[in-house]
Amino acid sequence: IGALVLSASLLVGCLTGLTGCASIKSGKRIIRISHAQSETHPEHLGLLKFKEYIEENLGDKYEVQIYPNELLGGAQKAIELTQTGAIDFVVAGTANLENFADVYEVFSMPYLFTSEEAYHEVMNDVDYMQQVYESTNAAGFRVLTWYNAGTRSFYAKKPIYTPDDLKGLKMRVQQSPASVNMANAFGAAASPMSFGEVYTAIQQGVIDGAENNELALTNNKHGEVAKYYSYNKHQMVPDMLIGNLKFLEGLSDEEYQVFLDAALISTQEEMLYWDEQVEAAKQIAINDMGVEFIEVDVGVFQDKVSEVQQEMLDDNPNIRELYDHIQEINKKYA
Ligand code: GCU
Repeated sequence: IGALVLSASLLVGCLTGLTGCASIKSGKRIIRISHAQSETHPEHLGLLKFKEYIEENLGDKYEVQIYPNELLGGAQKAIELTQTGAIDFVVAGTANLENFADVYEVFSMPYLFTSEEAYHEVMNDVDYMQQVYESTNAAGFRVLTWYNAGTRSFYAKKPIYTPDDLKGLKMRVQQSPASVNMANAFGAAASPMSFGEVYTAIQQGVIDGAENNELALTNNKHGEVAKYYSYNKHQMVPDMLIGNLKFLEGLSDEEYQVFLDAALISTQEEMLYWDEQVEAAKQIAINDMGVEFIEVDVGVFQDKVSEVQQEMLDDNPNIRELYDHIQEINKKYA
C-alpha cells in the first residue's frame, strides 16, 4: 500500500511538475522528504536549506525533493514509508514515535518544560540527544535533528477559560496513547486522528476543537473553523527529522557528515523564522479570521493534570533518565 501511495503521489507530482520528473532520468539518487506543513512554514524553509546544503556539497550524486502538505500521507503513513525506504526522510512530531521507542512519551507529558529556554537548551544539546535519536534504530530509522514546533494550547468552537470548559468537549490529539491520556486528564474527550483530517472534522462538528501551536490556525486554516484559542500552554512537543537507517548507514563517513551538517543548518534556519511567524499568525488569525486569543490562568490547568507526570514515570521507566535530565535544565531557568 505504501508503494502504491508513493507511486500515485509521484504521478501527481509529475503531472503538476512538483517532482521535476526529468531529474529522475539524470542518474542522480533522488532523496525524498515528506512533511505535513505548507510551503511557507518554518520547517519547509529549514528543509530548503537542507536541500541546498546537500546539493552544494554532494550535488553530483544527490537531488533532494521536498513533499509538503502530507502529499505522501499523514505522519504515520510517511513514517512507514521511511521505515521501508520507499522515501528517505520525514518530519514528524515525537508523539508519532512513541510506538517505536517509548522514551519519546516524555515529550507528551503536560508541562514537562517550564520555559522555552529550557526546551531549546535540551533539544539543542546534540551530544545528549544522540542516545535518544538512536532509540529507533531497531525500527529502521533514526532522528537527525529536531525542529521547534512551539507551545501547544487548546482551541475550539467555543471559549475555554478553565479545565471545566473542556468537560465533554471532543478534542483532537495526535495519534499516541500519551496524547490521549493527556487530553483526557484535562477532562476533555480525546479524539486521536491525523493532522490533515482536523480541519474537516472541526468544520463538520465531528470534534469540538484541537490543540496545537498558533500556526495551525493559519498555515492549516483551523482558525476558519475554530474561533477561540486559549493559552493554557500544556506542551512543547518537538518535530523530528527522521531518516531511513539503511540509507544513512550506506553513506560514507564524509557523506554522513554532510547530511548531519545539513540537518543542523536546517534547524537553525527553521528557528530563525519561528517567533516571527507565530506573531504574524496571531495577527492574521485575529484580523482576517476573527479568532479570539484568550489568556487563561495556566495554574489551574496545571493543577488539573498535576498527577500525570508521576503516573507516566511509574508506567514507563524508560523515560526516567531523560525526564531527570530535563528537570535539571528546567531548574537553570526557574
Ligand atoms: C504540529 C507539528 C506537526 C504535527 C501537528 C499535529 O503542526 O508541527 O508535526 O503533526 O502539530 O498536531 O499533528
